[in-house]
Amino acid sequence: MDPTAKEQAAAFAAASSNGVPVDGARAAESSALAAKGDFAALSKPHLSPILGRYFERSWSHGEGHLLYDTAGRGFLDFACGIATTSLGHHHPAVTAAIKDQADKLLHICNALGYLEPVGQLSSMLADVCPDPLDTVFFCNSGAEAVEAALKLARRVTGRPGLIAFRGAFHGRTFGAASVTSSSINYRLGYEPLLPSVYLTPFPNVYRYFGDDEEAASAGAIAALHTLLGHEIPPSSVAAIIIEPIQGEGGFNPAPAAFLRQLRALCDQHGILLIADEVQTGIARTGRMWAFEDSGIVPDIVCVAKALANGLPLGAIVSRRELQEAWGVGAHGTTFGGNPVSCAAGVAVLRTIAEQGLVANSAARGEELLGGLRAIMSEDPRIGDVRGRGLMVGAEFVKDAATRDPDGETCEAILQACAELGLLVLNCGTHHNVVRFLPPIDVTSEEIGRGLDMFRSALRAMPRN
Ligand SMILES: Cc1ncc(COP(=O)(O)O)c(C=O)c1O
Repeated sequence: MDPTAKEQAAAFAAASSNGVPVDGARAAESSALAAKGDFAALSKPHLSPILGRYFERSWSHGEGHLLYDTAGRGFLDFACGIATTSLGHHHPAVTAAIKDQADKLLHICNALGYLEPVGQLSSMLADVCPDPLDTVFFCNSGAEAVEAALKLARRVTGRPGLIAFRGAFHGRTFGAASVTSSSINYRLGYEPLLPSVYLTPFPNVYRYFGDDEEAASAGAIAALHTLLGHEIPPSSVAAIIIEPIQGEGGFNPAPAAFLRQLRALCDQHGILLIADEVQTGIARTGRMWAFEDSGIVPDIVCVAKALANGLPLGAIVSRRELQEAWGVGAHGTTFGGNPVSCAAGVAVLRTIAEQGLVANSAARGEELLGGLRAIMSEDPRIGDVRGRGLMVGAEFVKDAATRDPDGETCEAILQACAELGLLVLNCGTHHNVVRFLPPIDVTSEEIGRGLDMFRSALRAMPRN
């Protein structure tokens, strides 16, 4: 051990009691910052700086559709923890289910046997998926769901190839990052990524096809055929993975006709179609699943985010035969399908059914879309408003004719909205799309309030 390291080790040992640091100064400073509610200053010295943060605020608690900062100010939460707390904060049914399960049992690992909330949630998920999707593997997150889907596809088909769409986001683990390309930052410095992954253009209707859905679909299908003709034969492709509406990539809906053509192509060649519904699923888009708009049924659906309203939980759902062919022990998890998360998931799906929240998402989504389109008609900085249900984006451009992306104005608008009391986030490869993700039990009055604050933020921001 070099002398400096030796001194450091000795100092640490002297300041510790049985390995527990008793550094009074640091602990006292942390307590003082916590008492002041300055969680930013409390966190920054020792939290990794790796996370990009939308806001530098310190948050205290949430109640319904309001998120409160430590100064006691309530913000209308149209970010929902990036499409996760879809029933808002401190939801009575979800909170009660979590407390009840926490009182009974926190964890066993599902490899040890069977638990009521886990079994119940699997059967409820099978109920809300179209036939023949009836078999669930639980994990902890969206990226884990994608990993599971990709591993299943390779193992079951015995083929190596995986095809994903340019601009997609599927998560940060190596497998998920290999099929992700919404930002170069998610891939930079991580090569070599997973081999035999091929990226193909997404039918991005606004950005590349002048609002022409048919041309976008035809262009993307032609590109896919070129890929299959020149780079990897269809017989070597295990799966094609797609977000029915690209989320992080800019809230870009895939045209329904394109999804149907994709389904047909997969059927023709025995390729598994994976729908990544991590952001779009669980009633977010005015349907339980975004793929329903096209009438297709994928082979595997990836679910996470809103499934447990904020507790970590992910899942893949497929027909039984696929998961039987995957093979016992071919994949696994310690925490996945934790009973507390599953109890929350049961409460989420029950609440959606009892309160008709799929219909609410569709109806409030129409109000939001209409309101944003009215704002766009008065403000040329917004080039496009698009989405389904309560997943709606407003794309900022420097020039309506060239559609040159304007991430700077978009970022300024997010901050201006927050100043006024509205939390919205941005997305898109150029960070130029404001994304509206209100809770799925949002009211018309709240949609109106959110639109008013967005309009005021735009008016307060001078146009160039
Ligand atoms: C479509 C999609 N897939 C996967 C993920 C990854 O989910 P997680 O962050 O839970 O790993 C996300 C996260 O934003 C997502 O939007």
